[in-house]
Amino acid sequence: MPQIADRIRNLPPYIFATISQQKRQLASDGADIISMDAGSPDLPPPDSVIDALAHSARNPQHHGYAGYSGTPGFRAAVARHYAQRFHTEMDPDTEILPLLGSKEAVIYFSLAYLNAGDIALVPSVGYPSYSMGARIAGATVHYLPSSAETGYLPDLSNLSAELAQKARILWLNYPNNPTGAIANVDDYQPIVDFCLKHDILLLSDNPYYDITYDRNQGISIFEVPRARPIAVELMSLSKTYNMAGWRLGAALGDAPYIKALLNLKSNVDSGHFRPVYDAGIEALDHTARSWIEARNAIYERRRDLLVSLLPAAGLQAEPPGGAMYVWARVLQGNGADYARGALQHAHVSIAPGGTYGPDGEDYVRFSLVNPEPRIQEALDRLRLWQEIRSR
Ligand SMILES: Cc1ncc(COP(=O)(O)O)c(C=O)c1O
Repeated sequence: MPQIADRIRNLPPYIFATISQQKRQLASDGADIISMDAGSPDLPPPDSVIDALAHSARNPQHHGYAGYSGTPGFRAAVARHYAQRFHTEMDPDTEILPLLGSKEAVIYFSLAYLNAGDIALVPSVGYPSYSMGARIAGATVHYLPSSAETGYLPDLSNLSAELAQKARILWLNYPNNPTGAIANVDDYQPIVDFCLKHDILLLSDNPYYDITYDRNQGISIFEVPRARPIAVELMSLSKTYNMAGWRLGAALGDAPYIKALLNLKSNVDSGHFRPVYDAGIEALDHTARSWIEARNAIYERRRDLLVSLLPAAGLQAEPPGGAMYVWARVLQGNGADYARGALQHAHVSIAPGGTYGPDGEDYVRFSLVNPEPRIQEALDRLRLWQEIRSR
């Protein structure tokens, strides 16, 4: 049998692919699973976005390859959105590249900026693809400690000069997955200055800037003084417009970063389906702020319900300031055992915290992607299971 290459043989499977398989098995045995693991929004996109997709799909000219850099119209819409939302001017032809979802760019930037033996600075805890991208590139992951005490900002204070010199990229993500932490300009500034000093590419992975609660506001890395020459931002339509399955996002940054990304990406894919870009223009140009606020209010009510029910289920969490997750500490045992038991015994699927880095092992992550009655039912089941567990 032909041998699989080491880089794939040694790569652990993606956690949500594994959980999906376990859920399918239980569902085929008749279990009613409540899925609170992946961050796939359950609410629909705005109607006008679906209308734009359907309208564009009826045009016989719209079924060929749409171009390696996407359509000029979608790039211009991203530029308008950044100008209006963040007062940041980006050249739509050289500083913006549409993506098939922002996840692919996590891997592409790792491949484009990491040589074997280089260091990727990855917050512990953070989105798992940051460390996977580094591994696929043959680089080494150095986890930056982050904790509730420091607002889940990465701690750079103990990084040795040797590590800082070998580091090529650093990942940031606020509002944060999995913790829901928020960061402001003052939080970002020392990290920007650190990256400038050591010539490290700062990758701001920013799919949640418009999912915030309690009057918090998400920002762009380009609003931070001095960030522009050293930073790339990834934005996504998946969460903000409930379009996760549509796979549409964009990378923004100075032309050399975008050129490197395009060089790699155009060798792998041939761009998106034209109607998806056209629907993306509609989403960015015409989604009312009131639609976003109404959607955030729904997540906020779910968040408050979930957080209030956690202690009876053996968990504890602070209400997050943004993103669509609740990061809960397991009061007895660890996150991996809790998540495994919750699925097996309560048929509630949640993500084990260790997936997000070594500092997450005592945690589990809930996604707020179920209506309130389902959240209530999930937590009732977890409470009953917890009562048996703690006997
Ligand atoms: C922090 C973060 N980055 C990137 C992504 C990928 O999003 P998408 O590829 O749908 O744009 C996710 C999805 O959960 C995420 O949480």
